[in-house]
Amino acid sequence: MAISPWVTWPALTKYGSLGVISGLLVLASQRIELLENNMFDLEDWDKKNAEIVCDERSHTARTEDGTCNILENPAEGSAFVRFGRNVNPNVAHAETEQDTLLIPNPREVSNVLMSRGDDFKPATTLNFIAASWIQFMVHDWFDHGPRAEGNPIEFALPSGDKLGSGTMSVRRTQPDPSRTDADGNMIATYQNINTHWWDGSQIYGSDKETNDEIRAFSGGKLKLTDAGTLPTEFISGKPVTGFNENWWVGLSMMHRLFTLEHNAIADRLAQSYPDASDQWIYDRARLVNAALMAKIHTVEWTPAILANPVLERAMYANWWGLGGDQENRDFFQKALDDLNNNVSGVGNLFRMLGIDTDLGNMPPGTIDHALGGLVGAREPNDYGVPYTLTEEFVSVYRMHPLLRDEIEVYDIGSNIVEQEIPLPDTRDGNAEDYLDDIGADKLWYSFGITHPGSLTLENYPDFMRELSMPIVGDIDMAAIDVLRDRERGVPRYNEFRREIGLKPITKFEDLTADPELLANLKRLYNNDIEMIDTLVGQLAEETRPDGFGFGETAFQIFILNASRRLMTDRFFTTDYVPEVYTQEGIDWVEANTMVDVIRRHYPSLSSSLAGMDNAFQPWGLNMPEAYETWSAEQKQNHLWTNGVLRTEYQDGQMPAIDPVDIGGLISSVLWDKVNRESDVAPAGYDKPIHANGVTAKVAFQAVGGHPYTGLFTGADHGILRLSVTGDPNDRGFAPGLALKLFNDGKRSQNISALYTLSGQDSNHNFFANEMSNYVSPEANDTLGSTVLFSLVTTKPTLLMANDISEVNQDGTSVADAVAPTQIYFVPNEELRAVFDESPHDFRDDLLTLGEGTKLYDVYATSENIRSSIFPSRNRRLAEERRNSAVKVGELTTTSEMVASQFGDSGMFFKHERYEDR
Ligand code: HEM
Ligand code: HEM
Repeated sequence: MAISPWVTWPALTKYGSLGVISGLLVLASQRIELLENNMFDLEDWDKKNAEIVCDERSHTARTEDGTCNILENPAEGSAFVRFGRNVNPNVAHAETEQDTLLIPNPREVSNVLMSRGDDFKPATTLNFIAASWIQFMVHDWFDHGPRAEGNPIEFALPSGDKLGSGTMSVRRTQPDPSRTDADGNMIATYQNINTHWWDGSQIYGSDKETNDEIRAFSGGKLKLTDAGTLPTEFISGKPVTGFNENWWVGLSMMHRLFTLEHNAIADRLAQSYPDASDQWIYDRARLVNAALMAKIHTVEWTPAILANPVLERAMYANWWGLGGDQENRDFFQKALDDLNNNVSGVGNLFRMLGIDTDLGNMPPGTIDHALGGLVGAREPNDYGVPYTLTEEFVSVYRMHPLLRDEIEVYDIGSNIVEQEIPLPDTRDGNAEDYLDDIGADKLWYSFGITHPGSLTLENYPDFMRELSMPIVGDIDMAAIDVLRDRERGVPRYNEFRREIGLKPITKFEDLTADPELLANLKRLYNNDIEMIDTLVGQLAEETRPDGFGFGETAFQIFILNASRRLMTDRFFTTDYVPEVYTQEGIDWVEANTMVDVIRRHYPSLSSSLAGMDNAFQPWGLNMPEAYETWSAEQKQNHLWTNGVLRTEYQDGQMPAIDPVDIGGLISSVLWDKVNRESDVAPAGYDKPIHANGVTAKVAFQAVGGHPYTGLFTGADHGILRLSVTGDPNDRGFAPGLALKLFNDGKRSQNISALYTLSGQDSNHNFFANEMSNYVSPEANDTLGSTVLFSLVTTKPTLLMANDISEVNQDGTSVADAVAPTQIYFVPNEELRAVFDESPHDFRDDLLTLGEGTKLYDVYATSENIRSSIFPSRNRRLAEERRNSAVKVGELTTTSEMVASQFGDSGMFFKHERYEDR
């Protein structure tokens, strides 16, 4: 039997509750193995430390250049420190033109394996915010700096290249200026021009001069214009911020948001500490803002891109410990003290779970970090290797395929593309202009509902393969991505895997089953799996656990570095305490999410964000557990904005009216209709009858003097759906209405009404007749629905209004509820004769009705519903009841009418049965 090269996956794919725990432990133990074996330090610390003096302030604040985080080794993690390595530098080999640097031709790799062409492949579990977020993070973590001048890498354009027959020239990475003879023949080293720490340096800068530029020097704040935007550089038009390379509108959005957030934190601190100095507030606000970003990345972005239950728990464990929140973290740390005193016991536990690790023999701190949460651990732990980011870490974040080709702009709440902007048009100085012209809230919404590209081969945006750069000219980023890894000595794919404890692949077919891709891979790499470029192999990995946005190789590097960034940093461990952050600061980090941050600065997005617990997943209609506890207005807005408006049929896309699907009226559907206490149908539900209609927000204005209670006394927030039973060509035009009335903190109440079961023949005027919650059974009910409905009720043609009478719109219950027996929706006199009776699509009529249209006068009676087997007596009884009815109120639209997919399949109106009154 062939042995799969994919080793990490079993733990992640086979979960159940025990699976989750053992998956976590496997992850933890893998991380420890990597920490033991795969951290290599290339820096000469003594030389670096010689000139650093750690002042008093650095004991409780992050410094501008990242020095003095580790007081005993002050240069650690600071700017202009060398990247370390995750593969053994004695094994790694920086490729040159003399050997394999240009094999295969990087431009050909780009043309044949990377190019997306017109075939954009979206990552549908993510939204586009996730793409700008990760670039924003990358700019906090690392950059190799401006490329070297002179002596570029040159190679011929492959034959048939659209750029012609010349050569392509790529500047080399800036060599490490700190290299001396003392470094001997150590592998090529490079400096990180940003601080290695997770300290918000993309906003705050990595040196004092930049930092001084961005600070307001008042109230601890950062500089903003009066309009709340970032100041811009005079010539380039790019924002003045910590790091503004490779700029586009996605970065403008991020930097503006987290600059606003810094200032909000500063305001909060100033409120509690009115006498504090600018410097003191600034230092705390930076700590808090940076920690908030690290938390968002750990517990929100990562689980979004690696949407797998084990991973989600693992990332929560990174931040909070397995317990999931701060209180639990404290609890866990106590429990861990016990565990740590009994490591052999832990080893036994692992063996019991069938996990073959050496964990039980690890030093105590290991388990603390593995299970107790890395943030807030009592001591930083670098496993004996000073902290730096690594070349391999840089390599796995080459995620340019996430970029879309164009940005689609939508109005908030809408799903209709208003404008498409080629992404490169938003670069550099144009970014702020677009952000201002379109409006930040609209852009956030647009990013929230659109997808990034998926991290696969043949999905590299072509504009990035012809990217024009100031001074440098046109470059091909895909070719550069491949070339950089070769140049910097990041091993080719298979060797990379071996070096980081993964199994090598044995054949191209391990990567992908796509025959065309396989043929291209084999041809380009001359049938030699050892030559596959590391980025190519990573993007090609088809075997990924459910929900994983990237494959195993990148993941291995990622689990190592993700935790290391937290566990080595004094401000995420010993000094993640109120004495350093302030209590307000710790609370701010722990309590806020990306959704909170976006909502704080763009309140207009509140309803678009309702129910979203992860801002990086596609925004849309989410029904969070707390939904029912919301106010009537919130619930109405949520269903309306994120349900109806987002799925509005565009011009020409309104579906034809479906015939009745009798076969769909199975008993489970009927029982659901009378039992399901929800405003939304189960996923994938298709309405078997009444499949097509229009909806509007409505208000029910009660008139005084009637005896009915609860929502009959008024409901400002409702949604009305007007529909027909089925295709009028089949059985005539049979109008119906469904009304949902919301109340604060309790579930909504619903009532439906029809004219008659069989409808009004060929009369297509929707407002020709009154509708009611009770209709007479019909002997010749061709539909047979009465008989079917009898499966679940003894009164299949009657719906009850008791629930409606038992709750007020403020959510209070009514003690002595009075409900009518029958309700009549009497069309507004002025609407009755407006629409044509001849056959046509009724929805076109209704869509012309604007906000503020009175649709119905509502009448009600409490006379008993009696019926007779004699049709004439039945009619008389009905007439008597109708005559006894009094007007109870009016139903008026509070929005336009909208035809939408959500209205036609997602919105659910429960029926109250006679038996449930
Ligand atoms: C329009 C958006 C973007 C532009 C214009 C852009 C452009 C660039 C350029 C010019 C480089 C340097 C190339 C070189 O080594 O010569 C680079 C490097 C890089 N980019 Fe992007 N990029 C964009 C978005 C992204 C995104 C979304 C990611 C996602 C993580 C990303 C990750 C990286 C990484 C990891 C590097 C390597 C940095 C280093 O060598 O230190 N970039 N990008
Ligand atoms: C208790 C017996 C009944 C059962 C089992 C039943 C079942 C159903 C079902 C399965 C649907 C499909 C659409 C959906 O899921 O929303 C539906 C819709 C509807 N029913 Fe009934 N029904 C019953 C009685 C009635 C009565 C007596 C009336 C009115 C007098 C009525 C009026 C409506 C209307 C107007 C709709 C469309 C709702 C919408 O717009 O979503 N039903 N019913």
